[in-house]
Amino acid sequence: MAKKYIIAFDQGTTSTRTILFDEHAKVVAISQKELTQHHPESGWVEHDPMEIFRDQQATFREVLKTSGISIEAITGIGITNQRETTVVWNKKTGEPIYNAIVWLDNRTHEICDRLKKKGLQTYIAENTGLVIDSYFSGTKLAWILDHVKGAREKAEKGELLFGTIDSWLIYKFTKGKQHVTDHTNASRTLLYNIKELQWDGRILDVLKIPKGMLPLVQTSSSYFGDVDIDGHRIPILGVAGDQQAALFGQGGFTPGIAKNTYGTGCFMLLNTGTEAVSSKNGLLTTIACSLPDTEIQYALEGSIFIGGASIQWLRDNLLLIKNASETESICEETQELKDLYVVPAFAGLGAPYWDSEAKGAMYGLTLDTGKNEIIKATVEALALQTKDVLNAMQQDCNKKVQQLQVDGGASANNYLMQFQADMLNVPVERPKMLEVTALGAAFLAGLHAGVWELSELNKSREIERLFQPIMDNLVREEKYKGWLTAIERTKSNHE
Ligand code: G3P
Repeated sequence: MAKKYIIAFDQGTTSTRTILFDEHAKVVAISQKELTQHHPESGWVEHDPMEIFRDQQATFREVLKTSGISIEAITGIGITNQRETTVVWNKKTGEPIYNAIVWLDNRTHEICDRLKKKGLQTYIAENTGLVIDSYFSGTKLAWILDHVKGAREKAEKGELLFGTIDSWLIYKFTKGKQHVTDHTNASRTLLYNIKELQWDGRILDVLKIPKGMLPLVQTSSSYFGDVDIDGHRIPILGVAGDQQAALFGQGGFTPGIAKNTYGTGCFMLLNTGTEAVSSKNGLLTTIACSLPDTEIQYALEGSIFIGGASIQWLRDNLLLIKNASETESICEETQELKDLYVVPAFAGLGAPYWDSEAKGAMYGLTLDTGKNEIIKATVEALALQTKDVLNAMQQDCNKKVQQLQVDGGASANNYLMQFQADMLNVPVERPKMLEVTALGAAFLAGLHAGVWELSELNKSREIERLFQPIMDNLVREEKYKGWLTAIERTKSNHE
């Protein structure tokens, strides 16, 4: 019988990748291109949507070339993407009218303040599961309509389309035939009612967004159109935002499973099943995934804006390291830190604090603080921020999370993972295969194509290492107390 392969497009904040999986869910080939980051003003982050599309095409071709697999052997494509990032394009020409405004960009905090002054917090939390913050797409879309000349009139005449990156890629790859997204991506826009499963008329009215420019929302594992390549058509059969895809790839289609991905940011998601649990502690309620003929599943999410990005900052801005991998031995070899904290609020503070105007800070510097101490404190901040989120999650669910499954680049750092288990006082489980985001998208596509059954998906999962907490309780408590003080001092309303 002919072999079956699934392709995953993994379009992230800092890179664009294509990964080829075989029918045993093993990686056959990977191709990656770094994505240019544009910072036109302080706090602004943009991407060129055409570069994203070109890189996705180029990595796709490269994977086909290096693997030697023929196009006919590819059963389907799954797409996973950086979420919330907002693109508006011309329906006729397929040209973007402005750069993509990236999820990290906080230019819309004034629009957010206006929504808060209108008293919309409760309505938005109850219906979208989100908080009012510049992180989400809705206010970014409103900003484009307000600031790009003629955009609003064109949008009202039906000449412009909006999409998150999944939508944009599908539109381009299907040569403008499909303007669609999936439930997980829609649930990150601030415009989607996650209970009624439709665009929210009241929020669209407040932000003056014409409904006609929004994509059709589909089940995450369904047919999204055909990619047209060299005269061949390959169906897109799965789509999910990258954090939901990672949860799916970690086997998180079962309620109770929690994962933390250490990517540009850190994102912890806990599958809460068919119940949309509302948070009282600064977390988000979001759609975990949607499968055909199955009730929608929800997740609680703690979104930390800066995770691996702070390691890049050590490398590219402070020039303290050459490679991220150096940080592991530096942390191991540097003495235990006494009261030194780096709070990487470079894009404000996300969950559970939601303070878009906070700025990064360092506390506890002494004459003996050197570059290694700063590196160690930066690495430890990933775990300390994660503890804030896990605490909030346990309070919202009123039960202890028994184990945390990890993935993403920085989860390869053994020092960080041990420190994480110690800080949480919860075992941390690292799978052998860390490409779980792409795997999640491949699973969604493969399920629809009939390559896999849901019950078989976990069979390929192998644990590489379990990190057990070993830190003394008093040491943990002291360390965390110092962190909470550092956070208080970092908040924008701190006197
Ligand atoms: O919500 C933002 C998130 O989807 C970005 O993920 O992997 O690009 O850091 P990543």
